[in-house]
Amino acid sequence: MNQPPQEIPRGLIDQCVSAREVVAFTGAGVSAESGVPTFRGPEGIWTKFKPEELASMDAFMKNPALVWEWYAHRRTIIGAVHPNPAHVALAEMEQIFPRMTVVTQNIDNLHRRAGSKRVFELHGNIERSYCMQCGKAYPDVVLPERGSVPKCTCGGTIRPDVVWFGEMLPEEEWESSVAATTSADLFLSIGTSAIVYPAASLPSLARRNGAVVVEVNPEPTPLTETADWFLQGPAGEILPELHRRIASIKKKA
Ligand code: OAD
Repeated sequence: MNQPPQEIPRGLIDQCVSAREVVAFTGAGVSAESGVPTFRGPEGIWTKFKPEELASMDAFMKNPALVWEWYAHRRTIIGAVHPNPAHVALAEMEQIFPRMTVVTQNIDNLHRRAGSKRVFELHGNIERSYCMQCGKAYPDVVLPERGSVPKCTCGGTIRPDVVWFGEMLPEEEWESSVAATTSADLFLSIGTSAIVYPAASLPSLARRNGAVVVEVNPEPTPLTETADWFLQGPAGEILPELHRRIASIKKKA
């Protein structure tokens, strides 16, 4: 059973208040309280499905209809959920920190739906698709009937615009994320197991460049030992409280 969230120390709030450039680096845990399953852990997606059978180019070439069926299913789940207080708190922090960036590994679009403006999606976005032959973008392709695969006007096969295992991250999003991380003085790592590279290299990059690194997670991760602060608990409870405390000091200043 998880511990109740801890009180946020005053020293951490003070460091947040003085920050100018902030990066919130998020993983599946930030959407858990919206009802989107995480990947690892007892109820995780990868405990029920094998990633190499569903989230790789090999899998898609072998059986595109099966891969599409799985993404259509996930799109239905994601389409029915809403941003939770963690997403909302991060969007509201933009009022406090004009130079705030969200770097997310999530493909669920919930940060944008909550109102965050500067969002870099390292692993793509499940709402978008594109043609593998001509590259044409399909922002909201009609989900295929079970057993079929959507086709482009050029005849090519359309695929989800998500990063599969073994694929490179989208270059522009990655470079922009590295730049934001390098210049950040506050780096929040939220709801990620911090084990999937290259995304998982961002917290240590932030630290090497002088940022205060804060982790928010109900469970420790490989990052916990090197983070400056570890706030143990659900993001949907900790982030609204963090936002409220920072905002109240900023208001008085
Ligand atoms: P994981 O499923 O690996 O980790 C989710 C993390 O969220 C865990 O550390 C949980 O303890 C934490 N968590 C659970 N509930 C939470 C809550 N309410 N608040 C805060 N944290 C909570 O998900 P990711 O780290 O996002 O890649 O996984 C990284 C990548 O691995 C994904 O983007 C995906 C996957 O394979 C691709 O598909 C390319």
